[in-house]
Amino acid sequence: EKGNYRHFMQKEIFEQPTVVAQTLRSYVHQANNTVALPQIDFDLSAIKRVTIVACGTSYYAGMVAKYWFEHFARVPVDIDVASEFRYRDPVLEEGGLALFISQSGETADTLAALRHCKAAGQTIGVVVNVPTSSMAREADLLLPTHAGPEIGVASTKAFTCQLAVLAALAAHLAVKKGRMKRTEEQEVVKHLLEAPAALNAALDHDEDIAGMAHLIAPARDVLYLGRGPDYPLALEGALKLKEVSYIHAEGYASGEMKHGPIALIDEAVPVIVLAPSGPLFEKTVSNMQEVRARGGKIVLISDAEGLLEAGEGCMATIQMPKVHPLIAPLVYAVPVQLLAYHTACVKGTDVDQPRNLAKSVTVE
Ligand code: F6R
Repeated sequence: EKGNYRHFMQKEIFEQPTVVAQTLRSYVHQANNTVALPQIDFDLSAIKRVTIVACGTSYYAGMVAKYWFEHFARVPVDIDVASEFRYRDPVLEEGGLALFISQSGETADTLAALRHCKAAGQTIGVVVNVPTSSMAREADLLLPTHAGPEIGVASTKAFTCQLAVLAALAAHLAVKKGRMKRTEEQEVVKHLLEAPAALNAALDHDEDIAGMAHLIAPARDVLYLGRGPDYPLALEGALKLKEVSYIHAEGYASGEMKHGPIALIDEAVPVIVLAPSGPLFEKTVSNMQEVRARGGKIVLISDAEGLLEAGEGCMATIQMPKVHPLIAPLVYAVPVQLLAYHTACVKGTDVDQPRNLAKSVTVE
């Protein structure tokens, strides 16, 4: 039931603080703030490589996770969309963890990739929201997200819950690999537990975002830019906008702008910049200047510090709470979801059932 919400997508966006907290509860030992994983009968410390395979939004969660696995656990990560992975004859070395991410657990390409990896002797990890799904049944390491049923075709709450699980897994793997001390693990867990409140703070900007949707609705094309672990969020923002508002959108790594897409910039192309303050911020500011010099209209999503430094001259700004970089991808998911949602509402499209899309893609 939608309750007081107009659409399932809106309801599911607003459920995120609750369902992320719920998901984290099953991945954290309350007593000592360390990561709790389901009981498994193999040695995670032996994992030499992680291969992540997924589709769509779940794939973008995997892209964020690649940063975490490599940064924390120093384990090399290969990642691909399932439809490509299946047919490219990937090299799967012994001792590899193949990790599949899926809301439904039924996506045909992802499931076929899983079976391929299983036959090749990989350990099969599955991050999945539907506990009774085919993927859940075939997992060696089953990592459920507790987002609850996701009805809106555009994935929202499943994504942030996937990120929560993947961050916990990355920290756990890092500990097992001897790359992370107990105290560091506790720090990571502490930051993860800050996510629900930060998601709430992000949701507080719902009305501001609704108010700027009319700036995006008339656009034919929209660009999203992000760096580091927030780059996949730019891809996710573009996908969300495409799906529900039918506006053409592309996500780019900020630094790639000058290698092509900058040719698209004019007054008619809004550029959504996702940039929490931090060591990479200066670089993004210079990318923004390049956009502005060409008449581009920027919507800057950043924290108070970032907006103070670079907010002036933007068409609009959206203020996020200042958060630890680990949880920024979860928090910055909210404004891109809301921007897509409200833009679709302005355009009057069918938000929960966008044309041509199915919730679960069970055919190739
Ligand atoms: C985007 C979206 C799709 C799914 C993709 C994978 O909003 O919903 O891109 O993320 O079809 O689906 P699952 O996660 O069920 O495997």
